[in-house]
Amino acid sequence: MSQVLHRLRAEEATVGPRPRLMQRFAPFLPVTSSTPSLSLGEGATPLVHARNLGRQMGCPNLYLKLEGSNPTGSFKDRGMVMAVAKALEDGARAIICASTGNTSASAAAYGAAAGLEVVVVLPQGKIAAGKLLQAQVAGARVLAIEGGFDEALAVVRQLTEVPDPDHPVTLVNSVNPYRLQGQKTAAFEICEDLGGAPDYLAIPVGNAGNISAYWMGFTDYRTAGLVDTAPVMLGFQAAGAAPLVLGHTVRQPETIATAIRIGDPASGDKALRARDESGGRIESVTDEQILAAYADLARMEGIFCEPASAASVAGVRMLAAAGAIDPGATIVCVLTGHGLKDPDTAQRLAEPPLQAPADVAGVRAVLGW
Ligand code: F0G
Repeated sequence: MSQVLHRLRAEEATVGPRPRLMQRFAPFLPVTSSTPSLSLGEGATPLVHARNLGRQMGCPNLYLKLEGSNPTGSFKDRGMVMAVAKALEDGARAIICASTGNTSASAAAYGAAAGLEVVVVLPQGKIAAGKLLQAQVAGARVLAIEGGFDEALAVVRQLTEVPDPDHPVTLVNSVNPYRLQGQKTAAFEICEDLGGAPDYLAIPVGNAGNISAYWMGFTDYRTAGLVDTAPVMLGFQAAGAAPLVLGHTVRQPETIATAIRIGDPASGDKALRARDESGGRIESVTDEQILAAYADLARMEGIFCEPASAASVAGVRMLAAAGAIDPGATIVCVLTGHGLKDPDTAQRLAEPPLQAPADVAGVRAVLGW
């Protein structure tokens, strides 16, 4: 099987850059001859072997899927390109979403490229600076509501439930099925890069769309005979979200603004199915565990991801320490967004610059050289 995948990769190497996400994976996507072509260069993100951190965690075959390398800095672009192309195909003029920031940044960018009106509904005061600016600069209409993500999603769902002929608008949250279709392509890339499916796939869980999308991708490739196996799915929620693992809501005060803490995950059922069909688990990790993984990723691997992303590494570290992961296993942790999205959290860990005079002797003295 893996020979087929290696050949696919070798062919690409000789024909130049990878084609656009929707064309490259068209046989597995709801793309028709009337689907408009749209791309900001999404997908084809790096898979990096985390040698230093992996060794320290007792997982030498630890890999990181850098979804922050997408055009707007998060995995949302894979699903958004698909959802916006299908909205265009269906004659939409406007798109709307609720967001903790990344969906809105992506919707704003793809909506701008497609010439659509974009409305984003955000929980007031809870969006990291970078993400909010992305939507604003792209010209989206930004509404900040006095409530959390769950309330924002309820509002946009109600606004789009019954079509309004005066304001035709498409919902592009992950309840839009095209979003998960696009997002599943990351699983395809992982299989191609490794020459098969990994043993474990670890991923942060918020609304539970992405874990469901990856599971769909792995099972699509297995059903097509391109890989023989599918990974055990490990989902990690930020403590304080409604634990899928326990099935009831325990709300805690938000301590890091950008951990994704969702009270009522929209794709919760699909995620539980992914967990059960893969023999996996969904656990919760604390802010302390997330921030430790976030700092270690930057300091030991040179990878600056957004804090919510580091839940995948924090979770694997926790399970590895408990002896729940075979040390020889191939593990892929998905890092869902880029660290520059959230300068405020970075600031909390950053050392202030050393002050030095503007001459060599002074700089040497400060460095102690
Ligand atoms: N990681 C990041 C960086 C996210 O922004 C999100 C979700 C997730 C993980 C969780 O993914 O919801 O598919 O389980 N962000 C959404 C947003 C809620 O509005 O940007 P999920």
